[in-house]
Amino acid sequence: MEGAAQGSFVGAVGSLGLVKRWMTPFLRVSETCPKRKKIVQFLAPYLESGLPVTIQLMGTHGDVLAETACRCLAAGAVGIDLNCGCPSGRVVSAGAGGGALKDPPKLAGIVRAIRNAVGTDTPFSVKMRSGFSSPEEVLEIIPRLAEAGADKFFIHYRTVREQYLPVPGREERLRRAVFAASPLPVIVNGDISSVEDGLGLAETTGASGLMIARAMLRDPWLISRFERPDVPSPEEGRRIFFEALERFRVRGGNKLELVRMMWGENSPQFRSLVADSELVGQRKEESRGD
Ligand SMILES: Cc1cc2nc3c(=O)[nH]c(=O)nc-3n(C[C@H](O)[C@H](O)[C@H](O)COP(=O)(O)O)c2cc1C
Repeated sequence: MEGAAQGSFVGAVGSLGLVKRWMTPFLRVSETCPKRKKIVQFLAPYLESGLPVTIQLMGTHGDVLAETACRCLAAGAVGIDLNCGCPSGRVVSAGAGGGALKDPPKLAGIVRAIRNAVGTDTPFSVKMRSGFSSPEEVLEIIPRLAEAGADKFFIHYRTVREQYLPVPGREERLRRAVFAASPLPVIVNGDISSVEDGLGLAETTGASGLMIARAMLRDPWLISRFERPDVPSPEEGRRIFFEALERFRVRGGNKLELVRMMWGENSPQFRSLVADSELVGQRKEESRGD
């Protein structure tokens, strides 16, 4: 989660054993390949946890993304993911993130360039929305990207245009994505709030896996709960997780954003932080959105 999953978050999650692997937030790649030092710094907190790391890239230049992917593998990442889901206006208008879904042939070219560069043995997935303006677009886009070399799909069921609005039809949309990708695996994503919800969604869609983002902050042991029930309750989990964040020196706008996501804007925890105007100022500066 870009903007949320920074150093102290990664340290806290890793130290409490809340995940078994990482997919980083996106690394924005422009017209030139990031230097090795930048890639190493970006990957460092994830690699330090000792868990396998897939790095997520975002950009519009196939050759530059391909070279970046190779540098990331050399720096320790075990897999590559391409972000085709970010709905932020600035990103989309540049044709990156979710904006890439507007031009499936161009996107397929980018995927092919990355696959050719990283070889057939490297896991290479695409994280995407169900479409740019219509959730039916997956039926065209996924087969193109599969043919171009993607080997797995992470699908957030909303379209780019739908941002984070409440929209109906999550199961149907995700089932369509699973159908379009078959036999390749699809990891389904969007609003998964509990073990029951996740298992039900996996069953009704035929998904190979579940991806959970925001609910992990409301219930830090949610992913662990799928394997064993004897984990801290959501409230207890937030308390323990927050202590770990403090141990990893969470600061400023990042702290405020995490507390907002964990307890909500109306909570005493958030309000008492907001009272600190210095933090509010920092949050405004650091906030970059999804
Ligand atoms: C603050 C924030 C940052 C995010 N950053 C990323 C990102 O860097 N890459 C990505 O693929 N998705 C990102 N997402 C989207 C999530 O991965 C996920 O698709 C979305 O939140 C829906 O899942 P959820 O309902 O479980 O949160 C971000 C979401 C949030 C709220």
